[in-house]
Amino acid sequence: MQKLDEKTIISLLCRAQEARGAAYAPYSGFRVGAALLCEDGSVFIGCNVENVSYGASNCAERTAVFAAVAAGNREFVAISVAAGEEFILPCGICRQVLAEFSPDITVICGKKDGFETFTLNELLPHGFNHFSAEEKI
Ligand code: THU
Repeated sequence: MQKLDEKTIISLLCRAQEARGAAYAPYSGFRVGAALLCEDGSVFIGCNVENVSYGASNCAERTAVFAAVAAGNREFVAISVAAGEEFILPCGICRQVLAEFSPDITVICGKKDGFETFTLNELLPHGFNHFSAEEKI
């Protein structure tokens, strides 16, 4: 289990801020970066990637999760999110995607003078987490 001390948090926020530099956001003009710390200590970064067909756009957090999963990682300790000096929280879809793999993940949100941390449980209480196969049509 990775320790989430202040040094780790700051390092993850720096990685997210760096990742933000690669954001492709010509439609919103809002650039976001994320850094995902895996249970084995590896870190995967992501940025938002928009599309002219707006619904095809992807958030920074999901870009990081998908990169980690594609590399064989499915257990996550923390994710940091950076949008310059602006404080933002992950959108609902990203919360649901994070919950799929690590319902106990810590979410670190950068802001002008520091950061705030949340548990995913705080951000997504009572999320959808199972269904019964018989109920499928
Ligand atoms: N966005 C993220 O990448 N992460 C968030 O947590 C919130 C929103 C992106 C999606 C879109 O490209 C832009 O920010 C504006 O919504």
